[in-house]
Amino acid sequence: MNEILRVEELSKSYKKGKKAVDSLSFSVHEGEIFALIGPNGAGKTTTIRMIATLITPTSGDAFVDGHSIIREADKVRSAITYLPDEAGAYKTMKGIDYLYFMAGLFCKTSEETERCVSRAVKMCGLGDRLEERINGYSRGMIRKLLLSRAVMTRPKLAILDEATSGLDVINALDIRKTIKQLSKEEGMSFLLSSHNMLEIEYVSDRVGIMNRGNLMVTGSVEELKSRYSAANLEEVFERVVNSDEIR
Ligand SMILES: Nc1ncnc2c1ncn2[C@@H]1O[C@H](COP(=O)(O)OP(=O)(O)O)[C@@H](O)[C@H]1O
Ligand SMILES: [Mg+2]
Repeated sequence: MNEILRVEELSKSYKKGKKAVDSLSFSVHEGEIFALIGPNGAGKTTTIRMIATLITPTSGDAFVDGHSIIREADKVRSAITYLPDEAGAYKTMKGIDYLYFMAGLFCKTSEETERCVSRAVKMCGLGDRLEERINGYSRGMIRKLLLSRAVMTRPKLAILDEATSGLDVINALDIRKTIKQLSKEEGMSFLLSSHNMLEIEYVSDRVGIMNRGNLMVTGSVEELKSRYSAANLEEVFERVVNSDEIR
């Protein structure tokens, strides 16, 4: 299987002597959904922002489709899409106009723009509501609009920070289904993050458990549950962290 993302000993210190992310190494394969999970402050967003080329690592490197996030940031940017945790959309725009506006920024021809928008329209499932202004949308509707915008250009790697947090069950389920479908049917790769370990269990092929800037363990959900005799990822997390503290 091809590697779409390889992270090599990536570290970030915002302040001298304190590592927000401490020498992380992992990889994501083509068509795979990989999730970084862990409590608030674990270093998920910092890791994601480095890979999305928004902040510079203190040391280490990562490669997206073979391109270094440090030396070839432009190439990395054209291979990825990044949806921040607290992303907003232009509230006074209608949903459909927002999709055309964003497609216009990425697509080179009007045919390509139409293709991207029709993909996004289908994917977001908002139907006629796209004709309404975004300031009347619920949080779940906005997240669906943003997700469809993020993946409409078929990026090689979609990076979604806290993809479904703060959404109700139905909206979260719809978004998880879309992510799964894009990965299984179109071979798109995903790097997700979540502090909600139970929620992410259903969508991820593999997860990496983070705590205090460290990547404690990686593996498929089933693998980890059986290795730690745990019923779910929260229990895995508890056991991994406890065993580390005992050592
Ligand atoms: N811009 C920043 N300046 C200083 N410290 C930061 C900044 N962003 C995050 N941190 C710190 O880095 C650590 C990891 O944060 P973050 O990556 O946001 O974690 P997570 O996304 O897992 O909640 C935390 O201790 C946080 O306070
Ligand atoms: Mg975060």
